Amino acid sequence: MELTKENLQIVYNYRNVVNRPLTVTVANSKGGVGKTTIIRYLSYVLANMGFRVLVVDADPQANTSKTMLLTKNYHSKDDEIFIIEKTMLAGIVEKDLSQLVIPIIDNLFCIPSHVDFKNFPKYLNKLYGDAIEGIDDNYMEIEKNRISVLKNLIDPIKKDYDFVLIDTPPTMSDFTKNAAFASDYIIMAFQTQSDSLDGVEDYLNEEVGPLVEKFGLKTEIVGILPNQLSKGSIDNTVVADAIEKFGEQNLFDNILPFVKRVQSTPRTGLNIDTYWDKLAYDEVFVPLAQDFINRIKIFEGENK
Ligand SMILES: Nc1ncnc2c1ncn2[C@@H]1O[C@H](COP(=O)(O)OP(=O)(O)OP(=O)(O)O)[C@@H](O)[C@H]1O
Ligand SMILES: [Mg+2]
Repeated sequence: MELTKENLQIVYNYRNVVNRPLTVTVANSKGGVGKTTIIRYLSYVLANMGFRVLVVDADPQANTSKTMLLTKNYHSKDDEIFIIEKTMLAGIVEKDLSQLVIPIIDNLFCIPSHVDFKNFPKYLNKLYGDAIEGIDDNYMEIEKNRISVLKNLIDPIKKDYDFVLIDTPPTMSDFTKNAAFASDYIIMAFQTQSDSLDGVEDYLNEEVGPLVEKFGLKTEIVGILPNQLSKGSIDNTVVADAIEKFGEQNLFDNILPFVKRVQSTPRTGLNIDTYWDKLAYDEVFVPLAQDFINRIKIFEGENK
């Protein structure tokens, strides 16, 4: 996509404030709240704005990977046959993720996942053993090793990007602990039509809290992002609850509405060639990316 003057300015201003690459994950301990949808669109918009973005799919469901590969096919000009040789688990076992990076479109790259990545916890058991808190004396040492694997492999490659976005499965597990530990920032997503606001609290109390207290996690919550808001009153009540619990300043300004179109993206790949795709892009996801950039700039400005 052609870079506009406005986008060049956004990237220039951002890099003036933020002078380090950032890893970000989207979290909620509950499933189906829009984590993958947010990663898909945020990465696509940021790349189109001119930021360099790497999407790391740390979910064995591989939903993000499938969309990224469809997006690559959609936008590729030739009919070159494309083979994925290695995915997450192989990269982790070989301790080198750089070999997995697939260019998707200009500025957008992906490290793909595959169903075999479900064996990640087994691999950690084999490598470091397993330990239960309060029972095994060496819990701290073993757990520290287990949760640091992704961070140790992402840190050496993140310098090539403005953003590394990690997608995770809906669990509190080795996957999500590794993603949190590798991340500078977390976007907390929840769906306004479900009880997933509880999933925000569970995740913060049960996952982030212990990582901060015991393992010195420095990750910050960049914002809480309500998703799939429709005009119903229940949705607004859930958002009001979130404001009361977390404070208005901690919520993204840009609450994501229900957008039927995003449900087609897993079949078509990301694009802005149809009326509805362009509308969703312009009206919903560009404002989300701008909101995200602004929030990050505030955090990073303060951390200077
Ligand atoms: N704003 C939205 N408008 C309409 N549909 C949406 C929206 N956000 C997500 N969806 C749909 O909801 C479903 C779940 O979304 P998604 O896969 O992004 O959730 P997830 O949190 O990644 O799920 P999982 O926990 O299984 O990884 C998908 O079918 C997606 O298309
Ligand atoms: Mg998902």
